[in-house]
Amino acid sequence: MTELPQPERAGTAVDEDLTTTWRALWTETSEAIGHRQHARWMCEVASSTEPDEFLQSLDKAPAVRMVSHLDAMIARYCTGEPLQYVLGRWAFRRLDLAVDQRVLIPRPETEIVAEAALKLALGFDVERTIVDLGTGSGAIGLALADELPLNGTSIWLTDASSDALDVARANLAGIGRAALNVQIALGSWFDALPANVVADVIVSNPPYVADGSPELEPVVEAWEPASALFAGPDGLDDIRTIIGGAVSRLRSGGWLILEIGHDQGPVVQQLLAAHKFTKSEIRKDLNGQDRIALAQRT
Ligand SMILES: C[S@@+](CC[C@H](N)C(=O)[O-])C[C@H]1O[C@@H](n2cnc3c(N)ncnc32)[C@H](O)[C@@H]1O
Repeated sequence: MTELPQPERAGTAVDEDLTTTWRALWTETSEAIGHRQHARWMCEVASSTEPDEFLQSLDKAPAVRMVSHLDAMIARYCTGEPLQYVLGRWAFRRLDLAVDQRVLIPRPETEIVAEAALKLALGFDVERTIVDLGTGSGAIGLALADELPLNGTSIWLTDASSDALDVARANLAGIGRAALNVQIALGSWFDALPANVVADVIVSNPPYVADGSPELEPVVEAWEPASALFAGPDGLDDIRTIIGGAVSRLRSGGWLILEIGHDQGPVVQQLLAAHKFTKSEIRKDLNGQDRIALAQRT
């Protein structure tokens, strides 16, 4: 096994560290991990400052517990743990979400899924009920709660993982008044929802990686929850279940929005047509690959 670099810091005695500054710690951290921007984010988390505040604190001395926190983050980073889990937070649209190994790290392509859902949800101008299936950290559903009008919006977040829902609940607490519009439900896909919930928009970023896929990056497989990634031999098991169940949970004219794998567009369109969805469309991600399926219920 390759030996990973270990963090090193000159003068590691706790008392000596108190005489240092955040400027020096940032430089030392950059050298230890080989990445200046990641080092800065770690220093911001350790010092509990926002980006602007951090720059104003560069000549201040850190508290001992902050240095210990920073050292722990450096050690974790050096084992290969993803930066987002090391920091314990990650940005998603306007939100700063808590993330840890119980949930998938929210991805930039999923921000576009949320954007598509937001635009369609805004088409329901008086009241709108939205369901985010397999919410994980709460990324999509909480971004929608944050960006949709407070009045008339009702959002359900579901997941089959109670661990993931604990993270979503923590993030819900961070969105202020919009949290009043959000409900959380545990269970497998539509089984999580009370029988009377019928939605205008159902959005989901379900697991869509084929079991044993060679395309999955090793770091993703090693660190992120398998239950958030894999969906049977062709990666379509969960997408099939969601498309099959969505018709009876959408109002007439309601929309289903799914994040999909780059090679799943044609088959997902066939599945949508087989379940009497109209206006189905596949949109591409920032890399020009098929990534979002949208379809309207007749
Ligand atoms: C790809 S992750 C997406 C997480 C989050 N929505 C996001 O975009 O970052 C898929 C999520 O689906 C959840 N999941 C897996 N199987 C499920 C099932 N049968 N019912 C509900 N949720 C499920 C996983 O726990 C995971 O949180």
